[in-house]
Amino acid sequence: MKGIILSGGQGTRLRPITHTGPKQLVPVANKPVLQYAVEDLRDAGVTEIGVVLGNLGREEIQQFLGNGSEFGVDITYIVQGNPLGLAHAAGCARNFVGDDDFVMYLGDNILNRGTSDLIGSFEDGKFSAGIALQEVDNPQQFGVAELDDDGTVTRLIEKPDDPPSNLALIGIYVFSSEVFDVIEQLEPSCRGELEITDAIQGLLDSGKDIDSHVVQGWWKDTGKPEDILEANRLVLEERHGTQEGTIEAGAETMGHIDLQETSVIEDGAVVRGPVSIGSNTVIKSGAYLGPYTSIGPNSIIENTHIENSVVIGESEITSNGEVVDSLIGKGATIGSAEELLPKGRRLVIGENSNLRL
Ligand code: DAU
Repeated sequence: MKGIILSGGQGTRLRPITHTGPKQLVPVANKPVLQYAVEDLRDAGVTEIGVVLGNLGREEIQQFLGNGSEFGVDITYIVQGNPLGLAHAAGCARNFVGDDDFVMYLGDNILNRGTSDLIGSFEDGKFSAGIALQEVDNPQQFGVAELDDDGTVTRLIEKPDDPPSNLALIGIYVFSSEVFDVIEQLEPSCRGELEITDAIQGLLDSGKDIDSHVVQGWWKDTGKPEDILEANRLVLEERHGTQEGTIEAGAETMGHIDLQETSVIEDGAVVRGPVSIGSNTVIKSGAYLGPYTSIGPNSIIENTHIENSVVIGESEITSNGEVVDSLIGKGATIGSAEELLPKGRRLVIGENSNLRL
């Protein structure tokens, strides 16, 4: 069994963060989303992995993953270029996959369990594809499966206006190499993409069996800022990292704090976990970090309250204010305008930024 991780796409819903890098490298609890996919595949026993790259952030992704040895896997890079659809991306991996079965993992999805079960169930039967499903409140935004009373998959539709069920296809699939012939026959959907949902429907139409597996643990597609915050919350709730940095006497801390090396929570700072603090970051006196916050490396937080937020890193936040439910890009600074005249906020905001003041 091989694996492919789709890491292309435009990341439009995560702008401005994705103006400067791919969405798959946005950190959740100080670890890029893509790393969760690589580790999940590795833990399910899939170590030969093809990473499909788009146009955005190719170098950054290759620099981050390298040849995969640091993560215990063997990585081959496959260039898709323009995002012509998930089935197109899979088709680009045909030479890499050969005649093997393969897992396809969407590089912006995080799930806490289910991959091994999906692979195991696919391998136990004679299936042409295996899909992972989960009930959602907004099936219109996903690929949706219709199952008969026996639980057999009868129909799949991509982002339907009138969903036949609330069972969404989540971002992992298992295929036999038969899918490549179906992909070659596909026509673009109304949104102009070759849809993997249509490829699986094509397998069904030609009488092939599709395995389906309802995933019990949580799953998050991290395509939008609020999804990143939710994924950060879910991961912080479960993951208990190490405490390698320094908590000074006089700092007030409670709950779980993941504190990476050379970081400091200074005397007079208050930190209530779960919180993750990347390396070489200082939480200064007068700062408050509330639950479900991740602060990236090389940052300074002073006189500011931050809660339920992700600060990607290299930031200086000294605003005297409160920051909640926020995603703050790399290198961003937030200072105070209190002493300045004329009174008012001073903003240097990039294209597609989104502020609530
Ligand atoms: O998250 C689950 C959903 O993912 C499924 O329910 C849908 O059936 C499936 O189509 C997909 O929908 P999205 O609209 O969320 O897909 P998105 O465009 O965000 O792409 C998912 C990942 O695949 C993302 O990491 C970018 C990458 N990608 C996407 C396209 C269109 C590529 O590598 N190449 C592409 O051409």
